[in-house]
Amino acid sequence: MDPRLRRVINRIKNKSLRDRVLEVVKEISASIEGKFYTGLPLEEAPASRFHHHSYAGGLVDHILSTVNVAMALCDSVEKVYGGRVNRDIVLSGIILHDIFKSLTYERKEDGTYRNSPLGERLDHLTLAASELIRRGFPLDLIHVVVASHGQSGPTSPKTIESLICHIADEADSKMNWEVLNAARYLAREATGESWDKIDSKTAFKILMLKAEGGWEGLRENIAKLRVNRHSEDKSTS
Ligand SMILES: [Fe+2]
Ligand SMILES: [Fe+2]
Repeated sequence: MDPRLRRVINRIKNKSLRDRVLEVVKEISASIEGKFYTGLPLEEAPASRFHHHSYAGGLVDHILSTVNVAMALCDSVEKVYGGRVNRDIVLSGIILHDIFKSLTYERKEDGTYRNSPLGERLDHLTLAASELIRRGFPLDLIHVVVASHGQSGPTSPKTIESLICHIADEADSKMNWEVLNAARYLAREATGESWDKIDSKTAFKILMLKAEGGWEGLRENIAKLRVNRHSEDKSTS
C-alpha cells in the first residue's frame, strides 16, 4: 500500500474503525450473486476517466489532497466557529468515498480508461454503500460517502462531517480539473501537439515553467519534461 495512504489511515483514532477501513482499502471488492469482483490495484486507479485526476495513481492523489482540504475545514469549524467535528468520520469518509471507483474502470491498451462491465452497471457510490452496509460500518460514515456528491448525488449532506467531505471533494476535484486543463492548453500551445495523458505533478511543473520563464522558458523545457515522462511511463508499464 502507498505509505502516504497508510499514514492517513493511521490518523483514525478509533482502533476498530481504523482496522475496518484498512481492511476495505487492502481488499477493495464486491460480492454479487456469488461472483467476487476486484478491479484495478488502488495505486493504478484514476479518480475519473476524463475529468479530475484522470491518470494512473490519480485516485490516491485525490484522497490525499482531499484529506488535507477537509482537515483545514475541520480546523476552521472548531477554532473559528466553535463547532465540533468527528474527525474519524471525516477521515474514514474521505478515504472510502471514491475507493470503489477502482472496481468500475479498466485500463485500455493506449493507457486511457473505460468502464469495466461492473462499472457499466453500477456506480462507485452504489457499490460503496452496499459493501459498507454489508460490512457493518456506522450509518454516519456511510452517509458521508453517499452524500459526497452533494446536491447532485443520491443524498445531500445532512451532517457537518458529510458537508465538510463534500466541500473538500468538490474543491480538490475542481482545482485538479482546472490545473490539468490549463497544462494541456499550455502544452498544446507550446509544442503544437496535444498531451492528454498528463498527471498532476507534470501539470503543476508545466504551470510553473510558464509562470517563471514565459512561453520561451516553457518551449525550452517542455520537451525535456515530456521525454522524462515517456521514459517513466515505459519503465512502469
Ligand atoms: Fe465520487
Ligand atoms: Fe471524490
